[in-house]
Amino acid sequence: MPGILKIIRDRHSTRGSFDTNRPISREELKQILEAARWAPTPNNMQNFQIVVVDEKEQIEAIGKIPAEMTEAFLRENYSQLSFSEEELLVKKWGMLASAFPPAWTDPEAWNPESDYRSQMTFLGRAVEQTPLLLVVLYDGSKRAPGSERDVLGQIGLGCVLENMWLMSESLGIGFHVLTVFGDGPVERQVKSILKVPEPMKVAYACSLGYPAIPQPPYPRVRREIEDFVHHNKFGRKDVAWSARQPKIPHGASKRP
Ligand SMILES: Cc1cc2nc3c(=O)[nH]c(=O)nc-3n(C[C@H](O)[C@H](O)[C@H](O)COP(=O)(O)O)c2cc1C
Repeated sequence: MPGILKIIRDRHSTRGSFDTNRPISREELKQILEAARWAPTPNNMQNFQIVVVDEKEQIEAIGKIPAEMTEAFLRENYSQLSFSEEELLVKKWGMLASAFPPAWTDPEAWNPESDYRSQMTFLGRAVEQTPLLLVVLYDGSKRAPGSERDVLGQIGLGCVLENMWLMSESLGIGFHVLTVFGDGPVERQVKSILKVPEPMKVAYACSLGYPAIPQPPYPRVRREIEDFVHHNKFGRKDVAWSARQPKIPHGASKRP
């Protein structure tokens, strides 16, 4: 079994199409769900449910849900973008603009009056070529004790996500997080299709599968350890962490 740090480094977002003729086996799915089961959650509340969606009709119905682009999203997304690999490698955070449809990378071009329809996207592109969706829900009427806006509960849902993602990576299964499932109007339709009762809410969905074609390597960047670690006092940087830690090689992840 590869070391845990290797799995952590190799874990990546698989945004291409999955091979719908190569389903994830029940045993593999069970291991991914077992990883979710053992995720840490605040007060061990385990405030999550997972709907396993593998029926073609259900996935197709979800794919028809329109997702409205908002100017706020465009602007926030824009602030995270690099427009060349060089820029990304220097910045060491954020994403390449080329990972998004061109219309999402220029907030100045936003014109809700004339372009309203063209700002609409459909979930189809994200889910049409997937054999499996895991839709993660939580009970919105509960919160982790003392946690304003249930921030701690949300962190717990993040732990569930990471556990499932790392397990998938270790099995060689591609994984793509889709937060759009939790957006108000989309969430309502997802809940209707999956018959999710109140007060359950959709946290996110994960699309899983074996990539249809090998994903070309893309630059994966992270800050150096000294960029975010402080020694005893904030701002004190008297330990050279990078000398002892190997750097993440760009695009070095194994591609299934
Ligand atoms: C909480 C969370 C939400 C995310 N939502 C999305 C999403 O909606 N769509 C998407 O393509 N990627 C999503 N991602 C993936 C991140 O963009 C990705 O992890 C990040 O760019 C680093 O790339 P890597 O996963 O290849 O290392 C999400 C990741 C996390 C942790």
